[in-house]
Amino acid sequence: MSEIETLSAQAMADIAAAASPDALETLRVGLLGKQGSITAQLKRLGTLPAEQRKVEGEAINRARDAIGQALAERKQVLEDAALDARLAGEAVDVTLAGRNDGRGGLHPITRTLERMTEIFARLGYELADGPEIEDDWHNFEALNFPPHHPARAMHDTFYFGDGRLLRTHTSGVQVRYMAEHAPPLRMIAAGKVYRSDSDQTHSPMFHQVEGLLVDEHSTFADLKGTLVEFVRAFFERDFEMRFRPSYFPFVEPGAEVDIAWQQPDGSTRWLEVLGCGMVHPNVLKASGIDPERYTGFAFGMGVERLAMLRYGVGDLRAFFDNDVRFLRQFA
Ligand code: PHE
Repeated sequence: MSEIETLSAQAMADIAAAASPDALETLRVGLLGKQGSITAQLKRLGTLPAEQRKVEGEAINRARDAIGQALAERKQVLEDAALDARLAGEAVDVTLAGRNDGRGGLHPITRTLERMTEIFARLGYELADGPEIEDDWHNFEALNFPPHHPARAMHDTFYFGDGRLLRTHTSGVQVRYMAEHAPPLRMIAAGKVYRSDSDQTHSPMFHQVEGLLVDEHSTFADLKGTLVEFVRAFFERDFEMRFRPSYFPFVEPGAEVDIAWQQPDGSTRWLEVLGCGMVHPNVLKASGIDPERYTGFAFGMGVERLAMLRYGVGDLRAFFDNDVRFLRQFA
């Protein structure tokens, strides 16, 4: 084999074995660059006799062209392989199942609150609001609880050091509303209340919906009719209800309403869901309303209790555990 054939055979083998575009470039420079081995062969031609120059010149040119082509082909192969590898690495399998983000839903207590206020809105009650951190006047005194009145003990109150307290009921909103509105009036207030109490049907924080109507001829019969109508609208069926005489300092007469709660074992348990009564004259007076001219009724409902009955929840604390398996059932 002539020198050029040996060189050329080695070059072809090296090109076929080159594993990267960089390695290929190094080879190209070593063969065809200014100092390359093929280039050196071409330079050497000038020193040869004419006859030999022609023969060897053709061989070298052929070798140079073949190497150039082999380099280009190998380069293409390596670039294609690199592209394939990159595409494979970035591949997205569009047939894979998506990640579910799970749809959220309103908390059952929020839904119940909305349902309740909506029913009363249809009956013409205006939605009012009051603070959760209350003062003694609105939570107790203006509601006919004088200082040291034993009825204060019914509300296991959370006090702040400065005499303020976490409201124990929404009835304080009655006082706030009457200070700003003259009768005839109808208001509804919904929100959180706090008492130091916890068991299957009590939690230290719970929700109430308060109602107040003051007009010239309102009677206990109106109160009863309103509540019966509400229960019917809320549950979309008739529930057995029991009006049981009870005492609240801010109403006279006062009552509590129980609803027959069907137990899983078939027995019935009465569940107290609200307190109500005719607004006490002292409360009207404290708010600057003439009790000789106006009468009114008020009620305060336990939202969790109503939600328990509507959704068949056995333990009120389930509403506040935030167990998504429980909450998901309402979404
Ligand atoms: N505020 C009373 C309670 O929390 C309920 C109530 C409201 C009773 C209005 C009578 C009138 O127990």
